[in-house]
Amino acid sequence: MKHTITLIPGDGIGPEVTSATVRIIEAAGVEIEWETHYAGAQALAKFGDTLPKELLDSIKRNRVALKGPITTPVGKGFTSVNVGLRKALDLYANLRPVKALPNVPCRYPEVDLVVVRENTEDLYSGLEHVVVPGVVESLKIITEKASLRIARFAFEYARREGRRKVTAVHKANIMKLSDGLFLDCFHRVAAEYPEIEADDKIVDNACMQLVMRPEQFDVLLLENLYGDIISDLAAGLIGGLGLVPGANIGEQGAVFEAVHGSAPDIAGRGIANPTALLQSGILMLRYIDEREAADRIQNALFEVLREGKVRTRDIGGTASTAEFADAIIAKLDKG
Ligand code: NAI
Ligand code: MG
Repeated sequence: MKHTITLIPGDGIGPEVTSATVRIIEAAGVEIEWETHYAGAQALAKFGDTLPKELLDSIKRNRVALKGPITTPVGKGFTSVNVGLRKALDLYANLRPVKALPNVPCRYPEVDLVVVRENTEDLYSGLEHVVVPGVVESLKIITEKASLRIARFAFEYARREGRRKVTAVHKANIMKLSDGLFLDCFHRVAAEYPEIEADDKIVDNACMQLVMRPEQFDVLLLENLYGDIISDLAAGLIGGLGLVPGANIGEQGAVFEAVHGSAPDIAGRGIANPTALLQSGILMLRYIDEREAADRIQNALFEVLREGKVRTRDIGGTASTAEFADAIIAKLDKG
């Protein structure tokens, strides 16, 4: 079956890692017609809008997108396209599996956890205003509806994937109403899944525990801001941002993207690690039921990593993005 999928190359290293990933997926023989669309500054220059209607319509039609990172300049006048996209399509669950990879240098080879991040509200609602000069108010929105929905997503995921525990991470001791509501919704949903252990941790302690003894964690459930921060922390546990994939999932479809950003410090040099986006592509292939191709690509990726001859700089090698992709394609051809 031929699939139609929206492709957003993105900014910075985005075009480099998306083109490597597309090449590998095509080499695995999956038939895909890619509808390429631009967002962010590139789209603003071409269409006068950072999130053009054509792009949103394309994702709504296809229900699946593969996305490179988009730069959000710090300062005024440019709200996050990533946040905007997730909200526009109500992609309420951000799923980020963090698992050590074969033979990739890291501090915690036994880590195998999944970050489930609420993707539509919290301090990322973008509701900020100047109260009086020198005083700014930034609104943290937490609703019962979104909190119940993301808790249910986490427990359904745990049940489906045979995970044993879900840990909610919060600051309900200080934000008694907002994080309190999130935590209350978590415990209400947890009661419906008696076979899955449910516990909760205050976010500062959770950070310390993640660095001291990360193997105790299984599925982590977090609001938007904590989920954003802890995703990068968790990526660091297993070797860095070049490795960890992600999926933004909602009722209307899913957008697959790495945890990392556009990495302006290395953009344009062809040295970015495409593994994070490729692993997002593997999640995407499973989502569209191309399981056999997903497994083959994963095996080829793991084999190249296991051999260790071709690896990118972030994990101690010298290979370029394209050379690493070529090595994976060569394994696919043999298999
Ligand atoms: P970043 O994630 O782009 O980079 C952080 C560090 O990790 C850098 O040293 C970078 O070189 C390294 N890194 C990231 N991905 C890598 C890869 N694939 N291979 C090797 N090294 C990699 O975070 P930063 O610099 O804070 O953000 C840059 C821009 O990206 C910002 O405008 C930010 O808003 C945006 N961003 C976009 C996201 C998205 O589109 N979903 C997510 C995160 C940030
Ligand atoms: Mg982030």
